[in-house]
Amino acid sequence: MSSVRITTCRPAVSRLLRPKATLRCPQPSHPPLLQVRHKSGPYGYTQAKALVFSKYGEPNDVLYVHKHSISPSLPNKSVLVRTLAAPINPADVNTIQGTYGAKPSFSSLIGTSEPSAVGGNEGCFEVVSVGSGVTGLKKGDWVLPAKTGFGSWRTHALVEDADKALLKVSDKGGLTPLQVATVSVNPCSAYRMLKDFVDLIDLSVKSYASGRSTGGAWFIQNGANSGVGRAAIQLGKLWGLRSINVVRSREDKEAERKLKEELKGLGATVVVTEEEFMDRSFTARVKEEFTDGGKDPIMLGLNCVGGKNAGQIARCLGEGGTMVTYGAMSKQPVMLPTGLLIFKDLRFHGFWLSRWANRDTEGKKKTIEEILSLMKEKKFADVPMQEIKWDWETKEEVLKEAVQGTLQGFRSGKGVFVFGEDT
Ligand SMILES: NC(=O)c1ccc[n+]([C@@H]2O[C@H](COP(=O)([O-])OP(=O)(O)OC[C@H]3O[C@@H](n4cnc5c(N)ncnc54)[C@H](OP(=O)(O)O)[C@@H]3O)[C@@H](O)[C@H]2O)c1
Repeated sequence: MSSVRITTCRPAVSRLLRPKATLRCPQPSHPPLLQVRHKSGPYGYTQAKALVFSKYGEPNDVLYVHKHSISPSLPNKSVLVRTLAAPINPADVNTIQGTYGAKPSFSSLIGTSEPSAVGGNEGCFEVVSVGSGVTGLKKGDWVLPAKTGFGSWRTHALVEDADKALLKVSDKGGLTPLQVATVSVNPCSAYRMLKDFVDLIDLSVKSYASGRSTGGAWFIQNGANSGVGRAAIQLGKLWGLRSINVVRSREDKEAERKLKEELKGLGATVVVTEEEFMDRSFTARVKEEFTDGGKDPIMLGLNCVGGKNAGQIARCLGEGGTMVTYGAMSKQPVMLPTGLLIFKDLRFHGFWLSRWANRDTEGKKKTIEEILSLMKEKKFADVPMQEIKWDWETKEEVLKEAVQGTLQGFRSGKGVFVFGEDT
């Protein structure tokens, strides 16, 4: 939070606009966001709202909307940005619950009566005005936070040391705010996990050259219909890899069939339900059906579920394989049979995007730019989204409810706040 400061000057003027909060899904609509206005108060002050929390707890219990004003005179190296879209990720909820690996710093910078932190971590922002000492940004640019912990659920932010604190989207043409708002966490995580633990591309080349394989190297993942999972499927396909993808069974079998088809359409080689995957016969299927009797073993597993599911991912790996754990959606500890550690020489790693992104801002920028290029070329499909319209008069309850619902399973899309023209 240290790079973001909001100057509080006077209470915001109340507005008489009709509430327009709506939940829509799954396809986003974008054009209205491209003509930008921001809400101006008396003497050029920008009227802003933020969804904040002053203590840890369930989102419904601790989140509240805070109204404040931002002075038109910007500090030298600062910019004023307006939020166009900001997603609600599972980690954002864990942060509010106080269970996440990084704790936000609570401050009084936006004038809350108790020190507070602004929720949200990623988003697409548009530069509204620029301090005289800022060299790399201009009005109208689209930007993303360079580091984590930005606090994105707010209509505006005054960002200090903006040249360092923000990454500029070098060419926003052909992109939507929703794509930019959701690129930096899930697709980047999938990208790094597929590249940084096992060199699957090298493995593909060597296996092919030696005649052991006729296709790309395999990876296996659970939570395959999550934002990260869908990104991994697509990147894997683009890089010539093959994937086994585990999704939870649906009560509605037609919906389950459609989900499997959808993921195959994105590039998944195999999609199975957790029920099929947890069956004792599954490891034999892996050997016989997918990996040519084990000659073409799976060397990378991605786990965001935990519990027994994680143990089964490990069982499917070949000798010396690596399992990367990056989430715990089941809230169960990773359960591993001891024999696997001893006899199969498996490697177990954790992955945390925040650590990587905060250490390597340049790497983050490059990864984001590469994925945005794929989006522009229509080689990378958006994750299904539920847009939550945030207009000036949108009720606090609507915003809180959207956050609260994020960890409920079987959702039709990722919640994304889309900011209205009157904010
Ligand atoms: N370590 C990192 O740096 C990092 C970075 C990004 C994300 N993550 C983690 O990755 C995971 C996915 O994040 P996301 O933003 O991609 O998620 P998302 O798009 O919001 O999707 C949530 C996923 O979790 C599944 N799920 C929900 N409740 C579950 C349960 N009780 N048991 C098993 N699966 C359940 C959902 O499956 P259904 O459709 O069947 O409900 C869905 O696949 C989260 O744990 C998140 O914290 C970690």
